[in-house]
Amino acid sequence: MRRLDQLLANLGYCSRSEARAFLKKHAVTVAGAAARDPSAKVRAADVLIDGEPLDHPDGLLLLLNKPLGLVCSHDEREGPRVYDLLPDRWRARNPQVTSVGRLDKDTSGLILLTDRTELVHKYTSPKHKVPKLYHATADRDLAPELVALFAAGTLVLDGEDAPCAPAELRILADRRTAELVLTEGKYHQVRRMFAATGATVLTLHRVQFGRLTLGNLAPGAFRSVREDEI
Ligand code: URA
Repeated sequence: MRRLDQLLANLGYCSRSEARAFLKKHAVTVAGAAARDPSAKVRAADVLIDGEPLDHPDGLLLLLNKPLGLVCSHDEREGPRVYDLLPDRWRARNPQVTSVGRLDKDTSGLILLTDRTELVHKYTSPKHKVPKLYHATADRDLAPELVALFAAGTLVLDGEDAPCAPAELRILADRRTAELVLTEGKYHQVRRMFAATGATVLTLHRVQFGRLTLGNLAPGAFRSVREDEI
């Protein structure tokens, strides 16, 4: 049971101080009875707003096909943000919706967004080792030796002490594009791994995160992830 005003504020409907006005403006019922007291203790499943159940009362977990040019930071000074793609009510949620790890501004593809802090910790924890598949284009032909180098788990990036964990590289037929599976997420890791070999990454797209794939989601589109998918 939670206070109704707290619940409405957490789910982005209004602030706690606006809850009383919200209850006047909307037909809010709790187990069928009209709700007037913002401090009433309620079960989320019993609440209807204008006849509709609450919007994702147990938390949001979204899979976004991140377009190029957006940042995963919340700081508006860093540029347009992935969160700006979301409906206002989702952006007003508390805890706030945040990305599970980050993709650079110049990287596109699969990113999870959630207000479930436990999922952020779980999937960004080094212990968890979620495999993440990237598709990269380089500025030059990639030498076949890179496959063994990345797999060895000995590559130390500029400014780091610990080597990168073993990573699986597949160089595609044109030799400038490759698929790379990482189980960790150091800052700018893919770009820095290629840079360590003298190559520059020109395009980078994340195709898969654990078992999740983009399917046919267009750039900028997102969908909810079901519990049984993760
Ligand atoms: N590696 C990078 O260099 N950038 C990303 O966005 C993700 C992985």
